[in-house]
Amino acid sequence: MRRPLVAGNWKMNGTCSSVAALSQQLHEMKLGGEVDVAVLPGALHIGQAREGLKGSSISLGAQDCSVEPDFYARTGEVCAAQLADIGCVWVLVGHSERRLMLGEGNELVARKFLAAQSKGLIPILCVGETLAQREAGDFWSIIRGQVEAVVELAGVPAFAGAVVAYEPVWAIGTGKTASPDEAQAVHAAIRGWIAERSESVAAGLRIVYGGSVKASNAAELFAKPDIDGGLVGGASLNAEEFGAICRAARI
Ligand code: PGA
Repeated sequence: MRRPLVAGNWKMNGTCSSVAALSQQLHEMKLGGEVDVAVLPGALHIGQAREGLKGSSISLGAQDCSVEPDFYARTGEVCAAQLADIGCVWVLVGHSERRLMLGEGNELVARKFLAAQSKGLIPILCVGETLAQREAGDFWSIIRGQVEAVVELAGVPAFAGAVVAYEPVWAIGTGKTASPDEAQAVHAAIRGWIAERSESVAAGLRIVYGGSVKASNAAELFAKPDIDGGLVGGASLNAEEFGAICRAARI
């Protein structure tokens, strides 16, 4: 049985005071237990969230890392070594907002994935198709290419202990969620593709769904056999809503 993961992607939101308040609320809710619960604040606020969540079972992650794993001359970037040092467990790589707005391609994302792993972080590889790609038909080849880039660089064993987040771009921040059946079909396809290369890696791989996950739709999504939790954007900024989503992920 895979342990569910619910991660809150705070994106470029938060001030010192709102991060303090949200961290405190989440701490008091005593989330966790049968579910891995993580928050991914903006890089500026990771240290503050760490202090606010000290003693809780909520783990920390980042929203991106540099392709350079170590301390280096990369102005404005944050490396995996720094993220590990500050207490991060997880790091997103290849979020669609970075792929689409900053032009991050599959190969770069795969290198970030490996940079994260080289410092002991767990990469959460974000994959997903745009609306145009879905409507054009063969959107699976887009998703497969996003997964395959990591396999090309490091082989299927790189996915042991890693996480994939399926986030259809048309569902992110739009209020439009993939139906549980639509999401399940893609999750099963990802797991099936990995299973053709390693059944044991596929069986242990957590594949979480992201794209307008809310308290009202989480249970239905998480009930699907290949949906192992969620990557939650907007709804993770509200402690009550996020708490309800975490409870919906309990096995
Ligand atoms: P959303 O974002 O929940 O606001 O749709 C999800 C994400 O981008 O990770």
